[in-house]
Amino acid sequence: MACLLLVAVLAGFAVSLSGATDHIVGANHGWNPNINYSLWSGNQTFYVGDLISFRYQKGTYNVFEVNETGYDNCTMAGVAGNWTSGKDFIPLDESRRYYFICGNGLCQAGMKVAITVHPLPQNATKSHGGDAAERDAASAATALPGTAWLAALAVAAAAAVLAP
Ligand SMILES: *[C@@H]1O[C@H](CO)[C@@H](O)[C@H](O)[C@H]1NC(C)=O
Ligand SMILES: *[C@@H]1O[C@H](CO)[C@@H](O)[C@H](O)[C@H]1NC(C)=O
Ligand SMILES: *[C@@H]1O[C@H](CO)[C@@H](O)[C@H](O)[C@H]1NC(C)=O
Ligand SMILES: *[C@@H]1O[C@H](CO)[C@@H](O)[C@H](O)[C@H]1NC(C)=O
Ligand SMILES: *[C@@H]1O[C@H](CO)[C@@H](O)[C@H](O)[C@H]1NC(C)=O
Ligand SMILES: *[C@@H]1O[C@H](CO)[C@@H](O)[C@H](O)[C@H]1NC(C)=O
Repeated sequence: MACLLLVAVLAGFAVSLSGATDHIVGANHGWNPNINYSLWSGNQTFYVGDLISFRYQKGTYNVFEVNETGYDNCTMAGVAGNWTSGKDFIPLDESRRYYFICGNGLCQAGMKVAITVHPLPQNATKSHGGDAAERDAASAATALPGTAWLAALAVAAAAAVLAP
C-alpha cells in the first residue's frame, strides 16, 4: 500500500515536471482527408515546448510546414519543413502561428491545420484550458526546491498509510 502510494507520488511528480503536451492532430481520427481540423485546433491550447504530432499511413500522406499564404492557398509558399514518417512529432519551440498542410494534393480535401502557440504562462493562476491543473502543479513544483516538495509529499503519503 505504502509502495503503491509512493509510486503514485513519484509518477505524478514526473508528469508535473515534464509538463509538455503532445497534441495529436485529429485525435483518434489522425491526419486524413475530409476532417475539419479547425474544429480540432480550436479545442487545443498550445504552449511553447509542447509537441504536435501527425499520425497517418506512411507513404500515403505527409506533412509540410508552410506560411499563411501556403496554408490559405494550399501551396508550398514559405515551406519550412517536411515530415513523412507516418508518426511525426514536431516540437513547437516558438510562440507564433504554425501552418501545416499535406503536400500531395489533399490539402484541398481539408488536410491543413493552423495553430497558435502561446508563451508559457508566467503565473499559474492566469492559465486556462484543459491542462491548467497540470501546469499549476508544474509551477508549484518548480517554485519549491524539487526534493523538498517530493519529501513533503512522501511524508504526507506515509502519514496517510500509517494513520489508524
Ligand atoms: C470548419 O468548421 C468551422 C466551424 O464550424 C467552419 O467555420 C469552417 O468553415 C469549417 N471548415 C471547413 C473547411 O469546412
Ligand atoms: C471540444 O471538446 C469537447 C469535449 O471533447 C467537445 O464536447 C466539443 O464539442 C469540442 N469543441 C469543438 C469546437 O470541437
Ligand atoms: C493566397 O491567399 C492570400 C490570402 O491569404 C491571397 O491574398 C493571395 O492572393 C493568394 N495567393 C495566390 C497565389 O493564390
Ligand atoms: C510566404 O512565403 C512566400 C514565398 O516565400 C512569400 O511570397 C509570402 O509573402 C509569404 N507569406 C507570408 C504571409 O509571409
Ligand atoms: C524535405 O526536407 C528535407 C530536409 O529535411 C529537404 O532536403 C527536402 O528538400 C525537403 N523536400 C521538399 C519537397 O521540400
Ligand atoms: C505575475 O505575477 C507577478 C506578481 O504577482 C506580477 O508582478 C507579474 O506582472 C505577473 N506576470 C504576468 C505575466 O502576469
